[in-house]
Amino acid sequence: MDKVRKLLIAGNWKMNKTVAEALSLAGDLQRELGLVKEVDIVICPPFTALSEVSKLILDSKSIRLGAQDMSQHNFGAYTGDICAGMLKEFSVRYVILGHSERRQFAKESDALINAKTKAALAASLKPIVCVGETLTEREANLTEKVVDTQITGCLAGLTKDQMDEVVIAYEPVWAIGTGKTATSQQAQEVHQFIRKRITALFDDAVAKRVRILYGGSVKPANTRELMSQRDVDGALVGGASLEARSFSDIVKNSI
Ligand code: 13P
Repeated sequence: MDKVRKLLIAGNWKMNKTVAEALSLAGDLQRELGLVKEVDIVICPPFTALSEVSKLILDSKSIRLGAQDMSQHNFGAYTGDICAGMLKEFSVRYVILGHSERRQFAKESDALINAKTKAALAASLKPIVCVGETLTEREANLTEKVVDTQITGCLAGLTKDQMDEVVIAYEPVWAIGTGKTATSQQAQEVHQFIRKRITALFDDAVAKRVRILYGGSVKPANTRELMSQRDVDGALVGGASLEARSFSDIVKNSI
């Protein structure tokens, strides 16, 4: 696919896979996707599998490792948390921040996600910052307002240079794990709006470079259509990233 920005396809495994299962999936992906150069590929296993998976894909030319969250603090008395310094031990390059499931279940605010984003950048990790509206918000015509507030809050105080390391993921909450995908037109509309807001918050050059991923029931069958949209620069895949066949097909269909 002829795109302005290099596509990024990321798999968010969420709270799935034992270490043995994670190794099996990562091994299959390595065999299937090991030679892909056209798109960037990131897999985000649970914390408990990072160590083993990182060893397995150490020499991979194509697959990079991501985490699903991290603390805004760096080492100390924060029971149950994981910091950037710990992720770096396993060659983690990316970290998903502000996923809607963390906003919903862990009550994460834009201010907290902003602090985590800054901590990730300080540790040279690339944050994948998630935004997206609920069904109620969409039906009340609040999509742009909600996304704008999230973007503005989560990226507050970042420099233009730092923005070159940031990836944004638009994940409409109503499309996550529901089988309901935003139409490619609905996705494009919001992606275009986000890019416009990045121009206003930073500048046009930053906006032209930033990658905006779509997430929400991405499957092999809808990948091509979604990725063909001008402002869609990749996908953040949940359910379909749990099987080597479907994740590999998503990657292949995006090329
Ligand atoms: P699904 O692909 O299962 O809808 O999940 C999307 C998601 O939340 C990725 O972060």
